[in-house]
Amino acid sequence: MAAWTDRRILDLLSIEQPLLLAPMAGAGLAPLAIAVADAGGLGAIPCSSISVETATAEVVAFRGAVDGPINLNFFAHRPETPTAEASARWLERLAPYFEEFGVDPADLPPAGGRAPFDDAMCAMVESLRPEVVSFHFGLPEEGLLSRVKATGAVVVSSATTVAEGRWLAERGCDAVIAQGYEAGGHRGNFLTDDMDTQPGTMALVPQLVDALHVPVIAAGGIADGRGMAAALCLGASAVQVGSAYLLADEATNVAVHRQAIREARDDNTAITNVLTGRPARGVLNRVMRELGPLSRDALPFPLAGGPLGPLRKIAEARGSGDFQPLWAGQAAALARETSATAITRDIVEVAARLLRV
Ligand SMILES: Cc1cc2nc3c(=O)[nH]c(=O)nc-3n(C[C@H](O)[C@H](O)[C@H](O)COP(=O)(O)O)c2cc1C
Repeated sequence: MAAWTDRRILDLLSIEQPLLLAPMAGAGLAPLAIAVADAGGLGAIPCSSISVETATAEVVAFRGAVDGPINLNFFAHRPETPTAEASARWLERLAPYFEEFGVDPADLPPAGGRAPFDDAMCAMVESLRPEVVSFHFGLPEEGLLSRVKATGAVVVSSATTVAEGRWLAERGCDAVIAQGYEAGGHRGNFLTDDMDTQPGTMALVPQLVDALHVPVIAAGGIADGRGMAAALCLGASAVQVGSAYLLADEATNVAVHRQAIREARDDNTAITNVLTGRPARGVLNRVMRELGPLSRDALPFPLAGGPLGPLRKIAEARGSGDFQPLWAGQAAALARETSATAITRDIVEVAARLLRV
């Protein structure tokens, strides 16, 4: 077995391999987490888009299959209420699509989903006692955070800049995820909205390692052993890998998303806010091209996505992902169609070989 030289994350999280499965809302639950844990990595359950009951059932399924630690992941955004003018403007931008697809804007469902970490989720953490709790978009308010810390959970969150990393470490994060610009899914940014100045993984990791006393976990564009070895060379104590698992047998992403991953290239993803209201990287689709990829008119997170729901449903039934998130990172083309256990083993074995550990 590989004798990793930096054991900070391995010891902190009680895992054998310095590889964390990225929590991916809509793309994987207990079976994916179990498969990664079986290969010695850290499994994760993304809890932002599922009920407390479902999350609890997933943790029970994980605990029934694996002896190792689990990471429960939550969003920590502060919901905003848009003005009536802003809501009307967004619907106006979408009006041509409503007409094309025969959707009556008067019948749009209320926008929901992607709730921020709240009292009920915190009570779930207190009762299930996951070994790791991770947040995206900063951290929850102090009262909730101290309740999480009181359970003894290791707390981590994503930083997209050195300033965000410092902010997280000062507020008690035990480790910080360096989420580079290459990363798939939502950017974890919370101190800046400027997407033009976001650093890539190669630049961010060593600067965060230099700035922080807590261990750094590299994320973004790491999809095989070469990427993992490079991140560890830059000073990361571990890697967090997402897109590489999007064709795994245990992944639960829908057919049009899987198809987009099969067609992913180095140059066909972009950062967009038109699908949810927050910047996120995904495979380019029609709505991203035509309204964005970044638009000032998109409603705040997660409300921009609400009115797209009926369009998404109709398009998806026709085999098209034109109106939905096809989240993927810049290295998604390296994803392989096999078990997540095999993917994990291959990544860590190649990295260990390259690093001669
Ligand atoms: C499909 C998908 C869904 C994601 N959902 C979440 C999520 O629910 N919570 C979270 O913290 N990060 C989420 N992310 C971001 C990942 O945590 C991570 O930063 C990213 O996958 C790393 O880049 P990579 O995809 O190039 O490996 C998601 C990423 C993808 C690709």
